[in-house]
Amino acid sequence: MLMNTPSLPLLLVLTGLLAGCATNPKTGSPTLKDAYQDDFMIGVAINQKQFTGEDTNGAALIKAQFNSISPENVLKWEIIHPRPGENGYDFEPGDRYVDFGETNGMYIIGHTLIWHSQTPRWVFRDANGRALNGTNSADRELLLKRMHDHIQTVVGRYKGRIQCWDVVNEALNEDGTLRRSPWQRIIGDDYIEKAFQYAHEADPDAVLRYNDYSLENEPKRKGAIALIQKLQARGIPVTAIGSQSHVKMDWPALEQVDATLSAFAKLGVKVMITELDVDLLGRSESAEVAEMQREITSNVYSNGLPDAVQQALARRYAGLFSVFVKHRKDIALVTFWGVSDGDSWLNRGRMNYPLLFRRDHKPSPAFDAVINTAHR
Ligand code: G3I
Repeated sequence: MLMNTPSLPLLLVLTGLLAGCATNPKTGSPTLKDAYQDDFMIGVAINQKQFTGEDTNGAALIKAQFNSISPENVLKWEIIHPRPGENGYDFEPGDRYVDFGETNGMYIIGHTLIWHSQTPRWVFRDANGRALNGTNSADRELLLKRMHDHIQTVVGRYKGRIQCWDVVNEALNEDGTLRRSPWQRIIGDDYIEKAFQYAHEADPDAVLRYNDYSLENEPKRKGAIALIQKLQARGIPVTAIGSQSHVKMDWPALEQVDATLSAFAKLGVKVMITELDVDLLGRSESAEVAEMQREITSNVYSNGLPDAVQQALARRYAGLFSVFVKHRKDIALVTFWGVSDGDSWLNRGRMNYPLLFRRDHKPSPAFDAVINTAHR
């Protein structure tokens, strides 16, 4: 009697499993979330076209490859709370984002509650909306009330549904001192602990994260560690640290990434890579959006990425993930800041290739390199 020949998908799965690489049961192709299922979650920042399904290819890739999502923009103050007053909120995009995450069984991130960027100007003005002599004319009491109301309303709305919040984003200067943002200038240094306190009150079970970039540079890393330790000493519930990891081909060195993750592991909080991408076109050292210098590199890859550069990018990603795998016991989540190269904030009118999936949503050699770096 002839044995029933196993179907092709089953054969693919069996081949994949035998090969030791985790595969998508439907397609048989390897997936990031399966390859790293024993190490850490693999997340991705998504935009409105993706979570509403308009970008069908992007949405399909998100569901197939990732088990966590971050909102690239829709939960930022300027979008979810654009106007003052009771009716100043616009929850529709945020609701759709969270619905997408729940429907697809994702670990859902909230990004971000308190940031100096993408915050409407009214937030820092007095009750009549005046900004005297160009200075921010709200006072400490009024701004704390606005912060409290915003956090209570937004975190409260998604209580139990968003598992982890970026409570404060990018509060440090490159030398590790506190940034003189309107939050710091008007409220004082304790705006950070107030934000975490309010977020914890609104959802005691949510992971509360401090998120920043260039933490691989020692002065800023030391500033972040001192900040977390100060909050911990005051009993403030900061339970995760996010290293954005907007990297370049030659910065940071893998030794810097290794030292950063080792230092964060000692803090007793969840360690997360929160906004990973590799900028091939070069930009100022600082990822600071407000100070971004005019791009000094021409659009060198406007006609596509030469194979030699594809391979160099693959090696760069393999190097980064080899360090992440070394710290897999300390890292809870690695999130890419965008689905495909065409979605990336790093394009800015030029053709950049910072992610693992090309503009046609096909995997790049860097994707294969990351899959092959997974811990077996
Ligand atoms: O929504 C408006 C649209 O109505 C308008 O037509 C269009 C053109 O002006 O702008 C749209 O807003 C843009 C927004 O993204 C949504 O697409 C803003 O101009 C643009 O500045 C904004 O860029 C975002 C950037 O943060 C702003 O700082 C990027 O998408 C986003 O990837 C980036 O993400 C940040 C993280 O939140 C924090 N860490 C750094 C990271 C990179 O800057």
